Amino acid sequence: MHQHLKRAFTLLAVGIIAFIIIRSMIVPGSFGEFGWYRGDSVLQIRNLPVGYAGSSSCGEENCHTDIYHVWTNGSHKTINCETCHGALQEHVNNVGIMPQPANASRDYCGLCHFKRAARPSDFPQIDPDVHGENLQCTYCHNPHKPGFV
Ligand code: HEC
Ligand code: HEC
Ligand code: HEC
Repeated sequence: MHQHLKRAFTLLAVGIIAFIIIRSMIVPGSFGEFGWYRGDSVLQIRNLPVGYAGSSSCGEENCHTDIYHVWTNGSHKTINCETCHGALQEHVNNVGIMPQPANASRDYCGLCHFKRAARPSDFPQIDPDVHGENLQCTYCHNPHKPGFV
């Protein structure tokens, strides 16, 4: 075999061996246990603290039942309590831990309701410059049941 081919093959072999050694050093042991990811991550994710309690724990029974029933009968029933009030599992575990008040600014409601060309035209949208006299939206709308009936 020609000298230059020998050199190329040696380099290739050294490269492959180095790749295998480095790979075995840096790939975590549990990689591939269940799939194309670290098997240990399943346990780690399962042990993360739970942040969200879910709307039913707020008021299906016991606590905020009034607001809950207003909410289930309004057009915001698809917006979970914690979308506006933040993650509240801590408060559910210990009602002594009071949540921060919900963001009642015009801009917050506007995240979903300010007029945008990209939004479906049948989604309720308003032009903030002319709607609501620059008052807080909750001055007129109940956030738990925003429509007027
Ligand atoms: C669209 C956003 C939004 C959603 C969804 C929402 N809230 Fe609220 N909530 C608010 C805002 C804003 C206020 C403050 C109202 C004000 O300024 O008068 C508030 C106030 C409250 C208060 C304190 C004042 C009061 O009326 O007693 C409670 C308790 C409450 N919400 C519970 C809930 C529960 C339970 C749910 C789910 C069933 C829920 N909220 C869903 C926005 C929301
Ligand atoms: C001064 C009272 C008032 C304030 C403040 C107000 N609204 Fe309204 N809003 C109304 C009334 C009345 C209607 C129903 C009549 C209409 O469509 O104009 C309405 C209707 C709506 C609708 C339904 C529009 C549709 O086409 O179906 C949306 C969405 C809405 N408001 C969002 C908001 C948001 C978001 C804010 C705060 C940025 C806000 N409103 C502030 C009085 C108010
Ligand atoms: C995360 C998105 C989101 C946020 C934040 C939000 N809304 Fe809504 N809103 C919705 C959806 C979804 C509907 C139902 C739309 C439908 O029926 O097609 C709705 C419906 C409405 C309607 C129409 C009511 C009716 O019965 O026609 C009004 C008014 C309204 N919201 C006001 C508000 C106000 C005021 C706030 C702030 C306190 C707010 N929304 C925050 C998503 C949102």
